[in-house]
Amino acid sequence: MCGIVGYTGEKAAAPVLLDGLAKLEYRGYDSAGIAVLEKEGLQVVRRRGKVAELAHTVGHFDLTGTCGIGHTRWATHGRPSEANAHPHASCAGDIAVVHNGIIENFAELREELEGRGHVFRSETDTEVVSHLIEEAYVANPDISLVEALRLACTRLVGSYGLAVTCEREPGVIVVTRQDMPIIIGVASDGAYVASDAIAVIGATRDVVLLADQQYAKLTPEGAEYTDERGRAIEPQLTHISWDVDVAEKGGYPDFMLKEIYEQPRVIRDTLAGRLIGGRLEIDELDMTSEELNLVDRVYVIACGTSYHAGLIAKELIEGWARIPTEVEVASEFRYRNPIITPTTLVVAVSQSGETADTLAAIRDARIKGARVFGITNVLGSPVARESDGVIYTKANKEIAVASTKSFLGQIVSLTLLAMLLAQAKGKLRMNQIRLLFRELADTAEQVEQILADTSDIQKAATACVDATSALFIGRGMGAAIAKEGALKLKEISYLHAEAYAAGEMKHGPIALIEDGFPVIAIATDSPVYDKVVSNLQESKARGACIIVIATEGNEHIRELADYVIYIPKVRDGFSAITATVPLQLLARSIAVMRGCNVDQPRNLAKSVTVE
Ligand code: M6R
Repeated sequence: MCGIVGYTGEKAAAPVLLDGLAKLEYRGYDSAGIAVLEKEGLQVVRRRGKVAELAHTVGHFDLTGTCGIGHTRWATHGRPSEANAHPHASCAGDIAVVHNGIIENFAELREELEGRGHVFRSETDTEVVSHLIEEAYVANPDISLVEALRLACTRLVGSYGLAVTCEREPGVIVVTRQDMPIIIGVASDGAYVASDAIAVIGATRDVVLLADQQYAKLTPEGAEYTDERGRAIEPQLTHISWDVDVAEKGGYPDFMLKEIYEQPRVIRDTLAGRLIGGRLEIDELDMTSEELNLVDRVYVIACGTSYHAGLIAKELIEGWARIPTEVEVASEFRYRNPIITPTTLVVAVSQSGETADTLAAIRDARIKGARVFGITNVLGSPVARESDGVIYTKANKEIAVASTKSFLGQIVSLTLLAMLLAQAKGKLRMNQIRLLFRELADTAEQVEQILADTSDIQKAATACVDATSALFIGRGMGAAIAKEGALKLKEISYLHAEAYAAGEMKHGPIALIEDGFPVIAIATDSPVYDKVVSNLQESKARGACIIVIATEGNEHIRELADYVIYIPKVRDGFSAITATVPLQLLARSIAVMRGCNVDQPRNLAKSVTVE
């Protein structure tokens, strides 16, 4: 949700912090701030708005200190404003805190602290932490900063990634976490900390992924790690293999477009090494074929785009492995009482691996006895750590708020999982697995073909720019793809869009249609193609502007459609991979023409780490 960064070393801290915040801005972009320890004390600079505005303001200060912390915010408690921007200082102004997460008991803590004379200057939940640290010092004047933080955390209920600096210990930053990521890297020029590896890997690729209730004390010389009782612990280094250039647009006008164009590589990388001697192998799942064979019910739990990947998985798992599969949004699943037995498999899908609802649903499912597989894009993320097995989607860092390449990585991973279950259950023979795998691998080239000529997508986008609403329709796989197309359009272009199973049109949504109303249909070759065409005829008869994603060679559709976007022929099961790509490009083109910031849409953040 929010982004945290910290640095202590031999360089001036402010430019390092601003550079880190710019890389983290996708996590939240309504306000930002830094605190740097100067000779005369802590200097806090905050601004409402983007990191660039903060950088401009920081330019008016002469900050030379070499130790500091920074934050980019997505508002939860308290509106976006300078006063609510982090870092938050103690009453004396000698302690500064940045925080990612939610302190659930902040209201009672605040009342208690105010009762003891603390003066609050913001509406945030975070500010209680700086006052609690201040209190810890009052009660124990000789304790260290890390001990003061440890004492403060004993009072906190909720989730947090915290970084703190204090005038009492110049050059020191202390950090801890509960359910929020904290990544530490020690390089030759100092120690770095961030809520995302992207802000650290420019300095070092060997990082420590702090675990819940662990503490680290960063100094220019390195980092020391302790547990919640203050006992020293040996950190485990994780090597980050993706390139620093994921944080660069690489010549593309925006990250979303860059990431859309990375999709062929994502397909190839996600498939690499999975077919061994004609058999599908996903060792990371840590389940034998015999155990997989026992699975008799699957739940896919996820949010947003990841939920749509789950809808596609349902078609494949039921179609190939014949296992009843339910797909549920995590925020509903966690509050239901789903039927879970020891042979239930729960598949949690999350790009970030830190979505609060998905994590809560995983925990609930495990308590109820389910086996949980995570499908995530982030190494060592909470979803990866808390699942019994994990498949990484190999999309590498995704910066644009709208998920694109991670979605394709999820679909490919879920397709492999469906094949694995079918293999274990003996529903797909080795030659069938080999054929499917080959066709799946071929989609990388087919996506490249789509990306090579986007002129028809551009023309169709022009027809939608001035619309106020749009309808996405499809059947079977197409219905799931339509949902993703509609979500992409509304989140980045602010154009209202709805997705409907095409057969449901005449039960209500058809009333929306008037002259020029955009109806975007997924009408690729499939067993239900003719049915989709009938639904399109109904729309056409009422004046809709028809845009169709069709299989190349289908000239007949031109009679009905105002715009046709052709994609290569693939088996229906793989159509989500190919048909989604033009919908991503369509949404982006419409958003760009409407003057929207496609990478950082209003009100959104990349990871939703609050309920
Ligand atoms: O990180 P996750 O996959 O768990 O995130 C889930 C959703 O928040 C995410 O897919 C969101 O809907 C995206 N903005 C969609 O583009």
